[in-house]
Amino acid sequence: MGMGKVNGHAIMISLPHQGHINPFIYLALKFASKGFTVTFVHLESVHHKLLSKLGPQADLFSQARHSGLDIRYATIGDGLPLEFDRDLHFEEHWGVIMRDFPSLVDEFVGELMRSDPDFDYFLMTDTFYPWPPAVARKYNLVNVSFWTQTALTFALPYHWHLLEQNGHFPCKDDMEEEIDYIPGVGQINTKDVMSYLKESGLASIVTKAMAAALDAVKSADLILHNTMLELEPETLSALNEHQPNYAVGPVNFSKSLHSHTVSNSLWSEADCTDWLQSKPPASVLYVSFGSFIHTTKQVIEELAHGLFLSGVDFVWVIRPGILSCGNTDVLPEGFGDMIEGKGLVVPWCNQMRVLSNPAVGGFLSHCGWNSTLESMWCGVSMICYPIAYDQTANRKLVIEKWKFGVNLCDGESLDRVEIAEKIKGFMSGASSDSLRQEASKLKVAMEKALEINGSSDRTFDQFVEDLKVKMD
Ligand code: UDX
Repeated sequence: MGMGKVNGHAIMISLPHQGHINPFIYLALKFASKGFTVTFVHLESVHHKLLSKLGPQADLFSQARHSGLDIRYATIGDGLPLEFDRDLHFEEHWGVIMRDFPSLVDEFVGELMRSDPDFDYFLMTDTFYPWPPAVARKYNLVNVSFWTQTALTFALPYHWHLLEQNGHFPCKDDMEEEIDYIPGVGQINTKDVMSYLKESGLASIVTKAMAAALDAVKSADLILHNTMLELEPETLSALNEHQPNYAVGPVNFSKSLHSHTVSNSLWSEADCTDWLQSKPPASVLYVSFGSFIHTTKQVIEELAHGLFLSGVDFVWVIRPGILSCGNTDVLPEGFGDMIEGKGLVVPWCNQMRVLSNPAVGGFLSHCGWNSTLESMWCGVSMICYPIAYDQTANRKLVIEKWKFGVNLCDGESLDRVEIAEKIKGFMSGASSDSLRQEASKLKVAMEKALEINGSSDRTFDQFVEDLKVKMD
């Protein structure tokens, strides 16, 4: 095969969570729009959710195909029965995904390559998976790893051995020490590192899985990041000393891709537009804790009273299953009547549509990376209530580095009066305008990065060139 003759076909496999699926879908569209063939592989359980929501439209890419993109859709089992509640029994699900899934992927890849041998396949996998190097080796495939979060939260576990050497793995829960030796990271306090690096997170399977995954990524050929150069220049450039890293994000917002409407939401979306239409500009607080984390009834109760006491209008997403106990009775009794006209509680919504509504003036968020990017993209400032995983590290970036957010509080012992004061100050206090200005600046920077010849656009083209060379 000669240079430039690569007939590239990406086999793309994301982690089966909304926060990973979303960027993967847009990355798939991006690849296809550059002339690659893509086979997008969903877990059967995810497909099943989409099927019950969308019917035959669950094949996410039918519209993109109509407009000429060669993007195929396939499903694969994870080794558990469909009726198994993967959200509630997350740890067990991860265990199975890490243990049984690799051999199913192996079979799938082998079968795909046999049935359609006229392509130059490559493997495009979520960095959270530890198995890609083995599959890539077996089938002689280039392996592209996609890290869907910040470069900061990649760099920390990438240098796991340094954390260990310095007595920061695991980080003791009551420890407050500065970590200042991770290349390109500057300083981060141990309290802000990801929960799977902390002592209290050790029992979770996530720690083991992440250690294996961050070890595996060292044999990836190329690494894509869903961040942009302007957000984390030092961290990205330090990572490049080790392996080729490409900041091509945020992939979710590339304008050219939005003609290919993809319904990627795993739950039905309530429409908040009419309700928001009746509210003055920048007056409503949008509250959501993403697709994945759980919390306690006590936390929800204090937040509910805090929101009510603040007097601020709000839209609050309370996903069924948000409580760790599995209880569906989430809100305090009588809350619906208390907030009549002032608050709208929905089980799920189109977050981008809500955030881009002019009535929304702030986002109370758990700081999931997608939510953080979406907030920036819409020029909305944030009030942060991180709960687990990368969220405390993201909060640090939002508040200290990008300066478009403030902190709500830490941990589970919230106080409703304090919450109300913080929310009031955030929405209409002395610093609320400057926070919104910073968010607007980030919005502009993001638009620039994604434009033709912007940093993320150029980096993606460079990545495609380098990928072709690797495959040649
Ligand atoms: C997970 C982790 O928890 C998070 O820390 C990590 O950064 C990404 O993976 P999740 O908790 O779901 O993600 O948060 P986030 O990354 O913010 O993703 C949530 C996605 O769901 C966003 O794209 C958001 O637009 C979408 N969403 C959320 C909706 O479409 N509707 C809603 O009502 C709420």
